Amino acid sequence: HKIPMLSLSNTYSEAELLEFDKRIRKNTHIPFEYVCELKYDGVSINLTYENGKLKQALTRGDGESGDDVIDNVRTIKSIPLELTGDFPSFFEIRGEIFLPISGFHKMNQARFKEGLEKYANPRNTASGSLKLLDNKEVAKRPLDCYLYYLLGDLLPSNSHFYNLERAREWGFKIPEIISKYNNIEDVIEFTKKWEKERCNLPYEIDGIVIKVNDNNLQEELGSTSKSPRWAIAYKFKAEQVSTKLESISYQVGRTGAITPVANLKSVFLGGTNVKRASLHNADQIEKLDIREGDIVLIEKGGEIIPKVVGIVKEERDLFSQKTEYITHCPSCHVKLTRNKGDAKHYCLNYQNCFPQIKGKFDHFISRKAMNIDGLGAETIDLLIKKGLVKCFSDLYSLNKDILLSLDRIADKSATNLLNSLQESKENSFDRVLFGLGIRHVGQTVSQILARHFDNIDNLISANFETLISIDEIGDKIAFSVLEYFSNEENIRDILLLRDYGLQFSFSNDEIISNSLKDSRIVVSGVFKQFTRDEIKGIIKKHGGKIVSSISKNTTFVVAGDNMGPVKKIKAEDLDVEIINEDEFLLRINEVY
Ligand code: IVH
Repeated sequence: HKIPMLSLSNTYSEAELLEFDKRIRKNTHIPFEYVCELKYDGVSINLTYENGKLKQALTRGDGESGDDVIDNVRTIKSIPLELTGDFPSFFEIRGEIFLPISGFHKMNQARFKEGLEKYANPRNTASGSLKLLDNKEVAKRPLDCYLYYLLGDLLPSNSHFYNLERAREWGFKIPEIISKYNNIEDVIEFTKKWEKERCNLPYEIDGIVIKVNDNNLQEELGSTSKSPRWAIAYKFKAEQVSTKLESISYQVGRTGAITPVANLKSVFLGGTNVKRASLHNADQIEKLDIREGDIVLIEKGGEIIPKVVGIVKEERDLFSQKTEYITHCPSCHVKLTRNKGDAKHYCLNYQNCFPQIKGKFDHFISRKAMNIDGLGAETIDLLIKKGLVKCFSDLYSLNKDILLSLDRIADKSATNLLNSLQESKENSFDRVLFGLGIRHVGQTVSQILARHFDNIDNLISANFETLISIDEIGDKIAFSVLEYFSNEENIRDILLLRDYGLQFSFSNDEIISNSLKDSRIVVSGVFKQFTRDEIKGIIKKHGGKIVSSISKNTTFVVAGDNMGPVKKIKAEDLDVEIINEDEFLLRINEVY
């Protein structure tokens, strides 16, 4: 960023707003104005325009440098690619990319129909959208953008408010809800009004931003290293509502973890009807003394499922009973275990407890793991209930006769299912590893382990010291991996899966040359002919080693488009050579 993207200092109280006003008045002896704007809950973006054309779109990153996501930003209809009117030849403009609530719900409805997991909230979904590699996918998402801050030496005036009005004429979407006041009392009125009315807005806001209008005064007031002294964010308290807790039920996850769930009298919160809320664990219930029949306070955090944050004790029924946490699994009725240091209770009967088996299979076939889309949730239910699949390898022993003998599976879906099982054998080792569902081994950890150990035999025989010597692998993951591979049934299942042809190593492809022997190579960015994994595969085939971060020992970096700016600077600082895809192919003498 030419000019760092600072954050705003936050306040939750009127008193602190008065203090902010006092501080500013102490340093200012002429009349001035405040501009009040909504605080949009999205992802900030910095757009650069040269001669009226959009040239760059940087995310905030660490405030000093962000990623250029211009290809994705170009798909957002409200962001002009070319300006009209009398605009400065060079300037930057900052704003917030967000998903309107209705667009977000539509996306989730479509995902639900496809049997995919719903997105948690508009903000994370907007942020995830900007990171997508395929801008055609981004174009399908109803992203929108409000712009709220102009920067540059050639701006029309010294008034922030007036400059924004002008920017509207050039084609930008500038918020309509924006007001100028000359005293803090009116500012406070504005915050109160929108705190009440935010629920009627078609997008999410989490507060009000108050800015000094005059750019000269802004400059005089200056900034700390984190935030400007001329602006402040008044943040709303998370929206809370109260409703009756009708009952507490308990869910069993795929790892056997028990989660208590509050079943509520339906209540409207943050744009949706809420019937269920999370109660976290036994300690939380105990601490808040939550009882069935209580009037509880619920709040929406970052997750889809809201949480219970308190109770209204005065309204408690005289005869209410203290909650006794369950001692046995609600599904298979085996006694629950709770280890020291664990917040949750676990059901250890993983072999016979239906939700655990079902959860494991759902995870195994999910998109980010084995992506077996011919196998729907209902079919899995049926296969488990009929005892046809108990472990993952059983899936690969299915054949058409077995499938057709089940009610509800027609010839076509049986063929689809078998085809997608067959295709899943091509998935890379790290995806298979992720699919196994080892506790604490998510997508990233699976990639780290797969890359480090190269094949499953090395991973199975790894000891605690070897595991924790890897960056990013701590005790918790190491113990969990060791426990998983000490179970003979898991090993048996893995060996069978390997016999069926699933990938349990990265080096199945034979080494075809030694041209990259002893090289330590970093791969970054998006490539034209290959995926990043394919480039990595080629490096390995030629005897090279992939490393994830740049150091003085790095031999070179293969860079595609959108290479991370931090990586780039680091490579340049350490004098590490950066080559593009074509140069790389030439170097290994491989022409595609
Ligand atoms: S002005 C130096 N105005 O809030 C001031 N920011 O915590 C630059 N935000 O990173 C920001 N609505 O992403 C400004 N009307 C608004 C805003 C706004 C949302 C976000 C922005 C920034 C964060 C600061």
